[in-house]
Amino acid sequence: MERVTIHDKNFKLFIAHDKIMESIELIAERINQDYSSKKPPLILSVLSGAFMFTSDLLKRLNFNCEIGFVKLSSYSGTSTTGEVKESLAFTKSVEGRDVIVIEDIVDTGITIEVLYNMLKERGATSIKICTLLLKPEAYTKSIPIDYVAIRIPNDFIVGYGLDYDEHGRNLKDIYVLEK
Ligand code: IMP
Ligand code: MG
Repeated sequence: MERVTIHDKNFKLFIAHDKIMESIELIAERINQDYSSKKPPLILSVLSGAFMFTSDLLKRLNFNCEIGFVKLSSYSGTSTTGEVKESLAFTKSVEGRDVIVIEDIVDTGITIEVLYNMLKERGATSIKICTLLLKPEAYTKSIPIDYVAIRIPNDFIVGYGLDYDEHGRNLKDIYVLEK
């Protein structure tokens, strides 16, 4: 599909599924190299947006690991509210663990900073951030984003797990808001 309409907005094709898969292959290789000789890390997937990325990435990781989920949200419609809510607590202990956070997208970085500080407080040994998408022009924080699959301009996107008011997560490609 070249175009989709979600609620009141029109979106056009931006990143095709094949390109998403190629980018995931590349970061999976890097993560495999970095963790092959470490003790099994805890992979913490940030719901809801990262569910599809988490699934495709984890199938390509070849070391032993545990997976846990946390639900955080800061977005309402097409912009951030600046306030991060934790609506599902960690289901795993992070104390003494090497943690890899899996995010769908890092925008302003507000969400990832809150999560990073929570993990530090709860005693994680190391924290690495892995995101499918990064908007470098929107990022305002100093926490290193260790693994970035795709860098994009500061536009609103949907698909492959990402939503516009909860719709569009099921799209296999990524679409950008038409201006
Ligand atoms: P941040 O806290 O500003 O970095 O925003 C991070 C969260 O906002 C992401 O995990 C997404 O859930 C959501 N978000 C940011 N940009 C977009 C977008 O372009 N489309 C859909 N959701 C987005
Ligand atoms: Mg998210």
